[in-house]
Amino acid sequence: MKRLVSLLLILAMSMSMLIFGGCGTSNSKTVGVAMPTKSLQRWNQDGENMKKALEAAGFTVILEYANDKVDQQVTQIENMITKGCKVIIIASIDGTALKGVLASAAKEGIKVIAYDRLIRDSGDVDYYATFDNYLVGKIQGDYIVKALGLDAGKGPFNMEAFGGSPDDNNAFFFNKGAMDVLQPYLDSGKLVCVSGQLKMEQIAIQGWKPEGAQARMDNLLTANYADKKLDLVLSPNDSLAQGVVASLKAAGYGSAEKPFPVLTGQDCDVINVKMMINGEQSMSIFKDTRTLADQVVKMTTAIMNKTDVPVNDTKTYDNGVKVVPSFLCAPVFADKDNYTKLLVESGYYTADQLK
Ligand code: BGC
Repeated sequence: MKRLVSLLLILAMSMSMLIFGGCGTSNSKTVGVAMPTKSLQRWNQDGENMKKALEAAGFTVILEYANDKVDQQVTQIENMITKGCKVIIIASIDGTALKGVLASAAKEGIKVIAYDRLIRDSGDVDYYATFDNYLVGKIQGDYIVKALGLDAGKGPFNMEAFGGSPDDNNAFFFNKGAMDVLQPYLDSGKLVCVSGQLKMEQIAIQGWKPEGAQARMDNLLTANYADKKLDLVLSPNDSLAQGVVASLKAAGYGSAEKPFPVLTGQDCDVINVKMMINGEQSMSIFKDTRTLADQVVKMTTAIMNKTDVPVNDTKTYDNGVKVVPSFLCAPVFADKDNYTKLLVESGYYTADQLK
């Protein structure tokens, strides 16, 4: 009897090791997902969508958010390595700070997919999945040209520009995409940057913080716009657009005499969709995180099955050590006229969320 009980016990333990991986570690199909922060709506959606899609594909998922702290993200990735993840998907906080921990992952044969943001200066990044970042900026630039009538010869218009976080590779792509469109109008004098600040080192906002954008906009308005009208603010994303609008409102913009300037954004965060509906922000870019999550699941499945990993760009994303094979999803223009179709009818948000 005693023997039968211990036999049954051993059987039960082996079963649980098969199912749960045993010894506190995860099974061989575990995937780590390291997201930068919960403080921005999009990363919560990215994380949740990816977890759902990866679990539906049969993987166990360890999902972590790092509070925008580089050390915390490194520790989380170290834990994912210890827990036996075979693939780790990372949206980095500082794209240049993961070289060491990625070397440890590579030693264990773990494959790394950079998610949305390129990880730089490391040969241990295997793939990159993102939206076409240059195209995001280009769509913003093209929109501005139309909205102000620059293509019809209108102007001059006064403008200011903001840049994303300097430790985020994407920030430079967004800026280049937009400035390639706008530069000819600056050269011809149809756009005038009154502060003269257009270089990334002058306009970048650390950590993509709305407060940082608000403080810089306050300074720009005080120093340059006491007796001038501001017609355009190029903001690369929605969190910075939030800060810009807070500053503009405090300075009395938003009335018939002092209308809001044309203002761009990206992400279609709920707050910003409401700002578009209210006429405070002109446009945003919809990056359907479900599309990106699905793409990453396809890449992860291919890695696990040792089949060809789907990529559609092998030229653009040089991380300083190698050109990382990438899959670029298509960003989509959004404004108050198409948001219902794009965001509500597609089931991304409910109509109630945007009230
Ligand atoms: C992402 C943007 C986001 C920004 C701030 C960028 O890397 O591509 O979608 O707005 O980070 O989180």
